[in-house]
Amino acid sequence: MTEPVSDSDDSTLKGVMLRGAWYYAAPGAELARGRMAHKTLLGEPVLLGRDSAGKVFALRDTCPHRGTLLTRGAFDGREVECPYHGWRFATDGRCTAIPSQCNGQRPQAGDIRAVSYPVAEQHGNIWVYIGPRTDNLPPLPVLPDAGDTPQLYVSLRFPCNIDLAVIGLMDPAHGAFVHKSAVWRTRASIHEKQKSFSPVKDALGWRMDRHPASSNSRAYKIFLGGRPETEITYTLPSTRVEHAATSRYSYTGLTACTPVTADVTDVHHAMYWTVPGTALLRPLVKRVALKFLDQDRQAVLAMQEGLAFSPPTMLVRDADTQVRWYYRLKREWLAAQTEGRAPVNSLTPVTLKWRS
Ligand code: FES
Ligand SMILES: [Fe+2]
Repeated sequence: MTEPVSDSDDSTLKGVMLRGAWYYAAPGAELARGRMAHKTLLGEPVLLGRDSAGKVFALRDTCPHRGTLLTRGAFDGREVECPYHGWRFATDGRCTAIPSQCNGQRPQAGDIRAVSYPVAEQHGNIWVYIGPRTDNLPPLPVLPDAGDTPQLYVSLRFPCNIDLAVIGLMDPAHGAFVHKSAVWRTRASIHEKQKSFSPVKDALGWRMDRHPASSNSRAYKIFLGGRPETEITYTLPSTRVEHAATSRYSYTGLTACTPVTADVTDVHHAMYWTVPGTALLRPLVKRVALKFLDQDRQAVLAMQEGLAFSPPTMLVRDADTQVRWYYRLKREWLAAQTEGRAPVNSLTPVTLKWRS
């Protein structure tokens, strides 16, 4: 059970951006009524907007006429106007005006449609579905105990592919080395741990079953008081939801990685808690959260620089088992898409052991 396992057979999957999924696009608070913003998601140009009634919409951010970025134009809360020749588009993509066309000339506005994307806003997060059109959209990540908006949101751009960003979320062995901190954990606190895992139903993912928070996760105990229990859920393509609760308070953390392009990934982190009277703490928590994300970013960059030399690498048991699951489920995601069938989660409940 302890031999190193080569992961070289996963080379065809590495860095591949999975389509057919919801991706975190922006926190809702970033987008006021009547505003629009450009996002690049999986290499696609996306116009994200909020109409005057407060409803969020997403269009391909290139004008169907000559490709101009529509977000460089104007938005009156109802229609987007291209800055070049003034073609106008409703929030569902219908073209409503082509100022240069005479009567009887084709095309007329009714012949034209800008591409629109499915979009959803939940718990203060805006998600955009990237993939082939379908009536069967997958469910959004479930955030237990999360309110309408996060108490805190931070994000950081990682100059690496999606896999390097995601596997940092499921790597239990780096904490004491990358996130050295007295409130978080120290190297001296490393001890043997045993965690049970089960597959997530109806999605490609797994859950670290609810368990008492580790004795070296001091931050939880200080913040939530009592004896918190925690549960962590990972679902492909790239979300991690952590839920920790005592009998009185709870904390929910969402981490979602969104590929900007094949070589750049945005890591979004939204935090919710029910502990009252913490407004003054927010700037401090924000600083710590950003520092934490940046530590992960530095670690990933050092790994990326090493990997540029194509060294042989290995995934060890059991500390790297979740990374192997990630690649296994990713392979299944792509195979199911190629074969036109529903993906099958082949993971089974198991207990893993490591020192961290
Ligand atoms: S490029 Fe947009 S109206 Fe011509
Ligand atoms: Fe980390």
